[in-house]
Amino acid sequence: MLIKKADVLKAAEITPYEIYLKRRDFLRAGSALAVSALLPGVAEATTRLSGIVSSPYSTSEEKTPYKDVTTYNNYYEFGTDKSDPAENAQGLRTRPWTISVEGAVKRPKIWDIDALLKAFPIEERIYRLRCVEGWSMVIPWEGFALANLIRQVEPTGSARYVEFTTLHDPAQMPGQRSSVLNWPYTEGLRLDEAMHPLTILAVGLYGQTLPNQNGAPVRLVVPWKYGFKSAKSIVRIRFVEQQPKTAWGRAAPSEYGFYSNVNPQVDHPRWSQARERRIGEFFKRKTEMFNGYGEQVARLYQGMDLRKNF
Ligand code: MTE
Repeated sequence: MLIKKADVLKAAEITPYEIYLKRRDFLRAGSALAVSALLPGVAEATTRLSGIVSSPYSTSEEKTPYKDVTTYNNYYEFGTDKSDPAENAQGLRTRPWTISVEGAVKRPKIWDIDALLKAFPIEERIYRLRCVEGWSMVIPWEGFALANLIRQVEPTGSARYVEFTTLHDPAQMPGQRSSVLNWPYTEGLRLDEAMHPLTILAVGLYGQTLPNQNGAPVRLVVPWKYGFKSAKSIVRIRFVEQQPKTAWGRAAPSEYGFYSNVNPQVDHPRWSQARERRIGEFFKRKTEMFNGYGEQVARLYQGMDLRKNF
């Protein structure tokens, strides 16, 4: 995701997948003790979620191994290298944790995370995740439709967009002590996108609560959009009239649009979006329009020029 403004970082600091694999193999070759010390994400403190129901929205494609899902991450609050979040996020305190649902709504509410975990039936949604950098995964998320939570707060007529804000706590999040992004990380959706049944708040993956590096205790997942739309470790959901600014949009507006729908026809200035490498596979595959979810979501964008609204 790296951007020019971040002269703190050089392009070479993003770990391409091949180099990441080599580094991981090298670590594996070391002692088990050294590996667990360097990659504490492998033994992270997650707990099993119960009462999970399956979802008709899941793909039957092969799932990306848990280890890759939890050690190849983007979470700039914990560093810009793919392996940084698993190494640096283990100390993040996710209890107590509240999420404020506020703004243009009739019934604002501050949710305690444990109450939220019990409030809505938790489904398993096996979704494709496609990163703008050109890699993709298939991840079994545990979560619930964001629409369930939105209906409870009753948005008013002036609520046209939804803004998501991640925790801002430089003491716990070393990456926030550098200006690689404008903190806190924010993201946004149009209200109809947020209400779409495919849009979920994820509270777990692979049947366990979310590891910190994947956005514990709660994150957004929007499967037809690039991975960066999925704000992690959310503390605020705000309903607003104007299109909210997003962290990546503020950092590099010509590279990251508000919509950020997966679109093989609209390239990012530095990465083609036509093909992608599924993590764990050698050959690249074609990227599908809307990440393969077009049948469900194309109608949201009828009449819009998706080259302009990228
Ligand atoms: N959320 C926060 N708060 N900070 C981040 O740096 N990175 C985004 C997104 N959510 C990011 C974030 C990007 S670029 C991607 S691709 C996905 O998280 C990665 O999610 P994963 O690490 O669970 O695969």
